[in-house]
Amino acid sequence: MKKVHIKSFGCQMNVYDGQRMADILGEQGFEETATPEGADLILLNTCHIRDRAVQKVYTELGKLRDIKNSQKAEGQDTRIIVAGCVAQAEGAEIQRRQPAVDLVVGPQAYHRLPELLEQARARRVVDTDLPIDDKFGHLPAPRPQAIRQRGISAFVTVQEGCDKFCAFCVVPYTRGAEFSRPVAQIMAEIERLAASGVQDVTLIGQNVNAYHGEGPDGRIWGLARLMHRVAEVPGIARIRYTTSHPRDMDDDLIAAHRDLPQVMPFLHLPVQAGSDRILAAMNRKHSAEDYRRLIDRIRQARPDIALSSDFIVGFPGETDADFEDTIRLVDEIGFASSYSFKYSPRPGTPAAELDDAVPAAVMDERLHRLQARIEHHRQAFNHAMVGRTVDVLLERAGRHPGQLAGKSPYLQAVQIETETNQIGELVQVVIERAGSNSLFGRKAEATGAAAGKPSSEDIAA
Ligand code: SAH
Ligand code: SF4
Ligand code: F3S
Repeated sequence: MKKVHIKSFGCQMNVYDGQRMADILGEQGFEETATPEGADLILLNTCHIRDRAVQKVYTELGKLRDIKNSQKAEGQDTRIIVAGCVAQAEGAEIQRRQPAVDLVVGPQAYHRLPELLEQARARRVVDTDLPIDDKFGHLPAPRPQAIRQRGISAFVTVQEGCDKFCAFCVVPYTRGAEFSRPVAQIMAEIERLAASGVQDVTLIGQNVNAYHGEGPDGRIWGLARLMHRVAEVPGIARIRYTTSHPRDMDDDLIAAHRDLPQVMPFLHLPVQAGSDRILAAMNRKHSAEDYRRLIDRIRQARPDIALSSDFIVGFPGETDADFEDTIRLVDEIGFASSYSFKYSPRPGTPAAELDDAVPAAVMDERLHRLQARIEHHRQAFNHAMVGRTVDVLLERAGRHPGQLAGKSPYLQAVQIETETNQIGELVQVVIERAGSNSLFGRKAEATGAAAGKPSSEDIAA
């Protein structure tokens, strides 16, 4: 069998696309390999979101060129593919900067990989067509063996692209306009995943809660209605969705957090900033107050929900007072976790034209302070779990022998000591200790059968 090495950068959409490209190439006789050395095909699935993400791609390509050359000296033909959002944004420029690249394929064209690879035998090829000619309808169904290798949690893209045009963001240009997959197609994929052991699905999209797909009844279904259908699939114990935009959190979706036990009490809902002036300049189309009210409504429906967000510091024109508004919002909401980034001007976006750049040293200082607040709240959230009993879906072997690792409903990593439990079991765990990145606990024993069994605490001590 020929070998393909796939490396994905960026968001979960890229992880999903990487798996689907592996499925396509699997049909062409390629099996996946963990290292680029020895591969016949090397595929970089790239991210364009910040300048640093793009620089990483070119650094990586330099290394891959060396591998390609040394394999050529040994008589092996290696081909390099660049896929993903840098492929879309930079197209043929990639091959100008790194001539070792054989094929550039955008996120909406990768279903054509087999024919593009064929063409790339004779010449360098670029395919960055954006109109979606139903890419999803052309993808092969994942094979049971591939599903099992990937574990009991899976991402399923239900929506792609973005029509929001936040002033800083490249996604509307790299992924194209909003598109929702039809319900029947999504359900067929999820049923197939469940039949091969998947229990935890995350429905993904750049704006997943803007989902509006064609239902089997010919009507347009929203995300809440789709989740009600997913919850009926036997074997699917947990449902999550990401990433949402505050403007598209409708009443039905909020109610789904109250009504569907399978929908996990965790929501990633990026706010970006706490200052209305900056939110307006970012073209977010919501205020900080809108966001606060929205969080109140979500908490009324599901009081224990854990929240996370993305933040950008140093957007052009951000003053100290604007930044203090962000800190205040973080302290008020008390996010369970969050990502934060320094603003990176992106070619072609409206914000790249703005004057009033925030000096690098100020940006560094603000990021540092924001991250300290985020970390404070994350630790507080995790420590508040100690003594509580939570459901943990065991997903893989833990760090040490005798440990298994899984996730809490709130997306926290949990490690338990166990001799008997199997991967794939949903167990009740008493949380005994909060480490910096994981919670540690023992299985709650309704029967007391395992009394006297050493807890993780004893073993760690
Ligand atoms: N709705 C999208 C957002 C994708 S980008 C999703 O599917 O997740 C992820 C995050 O990157 C954004 O929420 C934003 O916080 C950050 N980001 C986007 N453009 C950026 C830029 N130009 N500079 C810094 N951070 C940026
Ligand atoms: Fe980018 Fe804004 Fe769209 Fe998210 S909603 S992908 S941040 S333009
Ligand atoms: Fe990056 Fe594209 Fe995702 S720019 S964050 S890989 S949509």
